[in-house]
Amino acid sequence: MEKLFLSISQKIQVNANTWVITFNETLKFYPGQFIMIETPKLVRKPFVLGRWDKRLSISVQVKGEGTKWMVEKASHLKCHGPLGKPFDMNQGKGLFISSPTCLTLANILKENFDVDIIIGSRTPLLLKIPYETVIGDKKFLKLLKSLTGYDWYLISGSVEMEKVVYKTLKGKKLYFSLEEFMGCGIGACKSCAVETKNGIKHVCTDGPIFEGDELCW
Ligand SMILES: Cc1cc2nc3c(=O)[nH]c(=O)nc-3n(C[C@H](O)[C@H](O)[C@H](O)COP(=O)(O)OP(=O)(O)OC[C@H]3O[C@@H](n4cnc5c(N)ncnc54)[C@H](O)[C@@H]3O)c2cc1C
Ligand code: FES
Repeated sequence: MEKLFLSISQKIQVNANTWVITFNETLKFYPGQFIMIETPKLVRKPFVLGRWDKRLSISVQVKGEGTKWMVEKASHLKCHGPLGKPFDMNQGKGLFISSPTCLTLANILKENFDVDIIIGSRTPLLLKIPYETVIGDKKFLKLLKSLTGYDWYLISGSVEMEKVVYKTLKGKKLYFSLEEFMGCGIGACKSCAVETKNGIKHVCTDGPIFEGDELCW
């Protein structure tokens, strides 16, 4: 893990509340890993690492003050990372089901695995992306029911989206990238603890990606 100073190259709006932020620097990381980013309140926030136009990047959904500052004001970001266990899946063909919040992760998965990508968004996208995109919950659910032929699935989105996918594709090899609240990102504060069928786990050090059947739904 390193202390990082990342200067922002571009901020690209993806939909009503999501941006891609690209950086000038490079960083060695593995798919699924994240960084903890300092905000003006000095509270660090976790963001999954990815790629956009061959640059190191993150996708940011505006939720509160920290993410608003990142997309509106920040010109550089102080962070530490990469953190978390890499996602290591080299068996067969996978499907990554995600909200636009993980578009940059989609790009890095595509570089590393045999994987198709589906992006589900509640609001229309403001730019063209090279992946199948479904707008609206009803269309998303209909498509989901037809996607049963993959060897594995990785899901990253809202808790509601993850629950719907778990219910619909139950019995398949499902992995979920969890977005719990985090304090330290390194296993020290215990704020990211989740109950699993194998006991209490910490999203920052045991995850952030967990197998669906291990989680208590
Ligand atoms: C491992 C990991 C990776 C993540 N990767 C990304 C990413 O790539 N892109 C991205 O946009 N977001 C990601 N998140 C979520 C992101 O860290 C939070 O949305 C962000 O910290 C919110 O900061 P804020 O200061 O804007 O909002 P806050 O002021 O902290 O909160 C605003 C609102 O958002 C809710 N909220 C805040 N954090 C979370 C959370 N972790 N889960 C659910 N609700 C939350 C709060 O309850 C509140 O209602 C990730 C989270 C984790 C744990
Ligand atoms: S965020 Fe502190 S233990 Fe996981």
